[in-house]
Amino acid sequence: MLVQHTARTSITNIKHRMFKTYLRLLSFAKPLSRYTIPYFIFAALHAVFNTVNYAMIIPILNSMFEKDFVFTPVYEFPGLEFNTEGFNNLLCYIYTHTQGEEWHHVHFLGMLAVVTIVMNLFSNLFRYAAAMTVERLRVNTLQRMRDEMFSRVLDMNVGYFSEQRKGDIMSKITQDVMVVQYCITNTLQVAFRDPFLIIGYLALMIGISWQLSLFAIVFLPIVGLVIGNIVKRLRHPAKRGQERMGDMVSVLDETLAGMKIVKGYNAAEFIADKFKKINAHFSQLMISMARRQQLASPMSEFLGITAVGVILVFGGSLVVDGEIQGAGFIAFIAAFSQITRPLRSFIDQFANINQGVAAGERIFSIIDAESEVKDMKNAREFEGLKESIELKNVHFSYDGSREVINDVSITIRKGETVALVGASGGGKSTLSELIPRFYDIQAGEILFDGVSVKEFNQESLRRKMSIVSQETVLFNDSIEGNILMGRPSATHDEVVEASKIANAHSFIMDSPEGYETNIGDRGTKLSGGQRQRISIARAVLKNPEILILDEATSALDTESEKLVQDALTKLLEGRTSVVIAHRLSTIYNADRIYVIDQGRVAEQGTHQELLAKGGIYAHLIEMQSFS
Ligand SMILES: Nc1ncnc2c1ncn2[C@@H]1O[C@H](COP(=O)(O)OP(=O)(O)O)[C@@H](O)[C@H]1O
Ligand SMILES: [Mg+2]
Repeated sequence: MLVQHTARTSITNIKHRMFKTYLRLLSFAKPLSRYTIPYFIFAALHAVFNTVNYAMIIPILNSMFEKDFVFTPVYEFPGLEFNTEGFNNLLCYIYTHTQGEEWHHVHFLGMLAVVTIVMNLFSNLFRYAAAMTVERLRVNTLQRMRDEMFSRVLDMNVGYFSEQRKGDIMSKITQDVMVVQYCITNTLQVAFRDPFLIIGYLALMIGISWQLSLFAIVFLPIVGLVIGNIVKRLRHPAKRGQERMGDMVSVLDETLAGMKIVKGYNAAEFIADKFKKINAHFSQLMISMARRQQLASPMSEFLGITAVGVILVFGGSLVVDGEIQGAGFIAFIAAFSQITRPLRSFIDQFANINQGVAAGERIFSIIDAESEVKDMKNAREFEGLKESIELKNVHFSYDGSREVINDVSITIRKGETVALVGASGGGKSTLSELIPRFYDIQAGEILFDGVSVKEFNQESLRRKMSIVSQETVLFNDSIEGNILMGRPSATHDEVVEASKIANAHSFIMDSPEGYETNIGDRGTKLSGGQRQRISIARAVLKNPEILILDEATSALDTESEKLVQDALTKLLEGRTSVVIAHRLSTIYNADRIYVIDQGRVAEQGTHQELLAKGGIYAHLIEMQSFS
């Protein structure tokens, strides 16, 4: 008893949640009434004209086959009467006024044809108007949805974006939004258009014979239930299909981004195998989904026809008994076979709502995701550094278990250049990323002039900083567009000046379209040194007070390194900076050097002091044989 009760409440909860998600999806179309009210009107008119269209079968058949069909002129408008006789009177009235009193069989048929065509024209015009209203609603909704998702993604903390997440986000923004769009379009049809059609056809059927209608109505729910059951089992494979698609996009993204590595290591086969496996799995799911989907229509049509057969027998006997006219009966069958179509889609679409809501939930998982690095309620503006940045006994771990930074304390005074050196994997990049608060630390403090980094509004903090890393990040845009990212309000002259400081001006001018040259996806059309100098120009343009250079020169050849090095030296002048570097030239002049080893500060001091000490630093220098 109790178990049953809980089960029922949880189903109610699920339905409630589904409904809420669904409303929330719809609420992206603003204002909703701007779409639903016209849709309501158009759908109703479509149903009216469509029904009349089917009713036209009766007079057409009658005038052709009924031997005792008599025409009586009607001069006064007979009013709208809802039955066969009223309908006939109306047609006679139209005939009298268009063709005169003289009865002519062919003229009458011609008039019926014209009326049918006009009714059909109206029916389809309103159908088109209704469909376009839904299209507008759909496009508008999706546009807002994608915008919102994208801006939410931009708000997330850096740690949120693991490789797996990236594929997932891509599949949500592309795939799930597609699923939702069909759900929205279809459910509106279910909510308005189909019920109107069903009402219209039912009215026509009852107008012809209420006994037969009653009989038919008993059948509809039975047919409906059977069909509904078949369609219901669609949801699960659909969900797994989405996940597989996410995996596939992941592999695709990785491969495209790392094409050189794939080719260089002859790993194409390896990657292709991986892709094929996921692809095959996906196809299997698609087939099992398609099997159910494709079965639904034939099955329901077959069942519909079976129902028609039963009606045929019952109705036929009514005709033989003279209860209904033959023409009326045929119109009835036509209307009845039509009613199963909206009825079927009515049931089909409920399965789609499930799918759409499931996709909607995935979309909201992005929209509702909370950044782990959040601004405080009354976060203050970072106005600039007055004295120093201090890291005090900082502990940090990416995954919450393995400590990557273990009790590190570092001081960077205003105007100083502090260098971090050490073996790779020691935690230097991680430390440099803690300063702009890309991650929150687990213990210790990061202070700007004695105030915790968490108290500042992140945007104001980052406004004062530039980060140039080994991995230059360029976007598929012009060179100028990429540099402007440093300060979008800058003028062209300022961009040129920044490029000159970054030693980038001359190669930019040599490019085919100068500053307007498109640099290709992720900057693939440029050499490593050129990319690096563009990202330095970007940092120069931003003119930051605090500068973080993470191995900005390590990937360069000697020639471009010298150019980049010059650019960096100019950039460092008069700024507070943290420099991570392999090469002596950059760290030689640092005010203080910290040797980071396995997440700890192993040594600290100036170049001379550390050399004299003969510890890790001296060893590193010796090993790497700096010139
Ligand atoms: N995004 C990340 N997620 C999890 N672990 C990471 C991440 N980035 C770096 N690590 C790990 O943190 C440690 C320090 O890395 P890193 O700061 O890049 O060192 P360095 O810059 O000194 O070479 C390494 O063991 C690395 O595997
Ligand atoms: Mg690093």
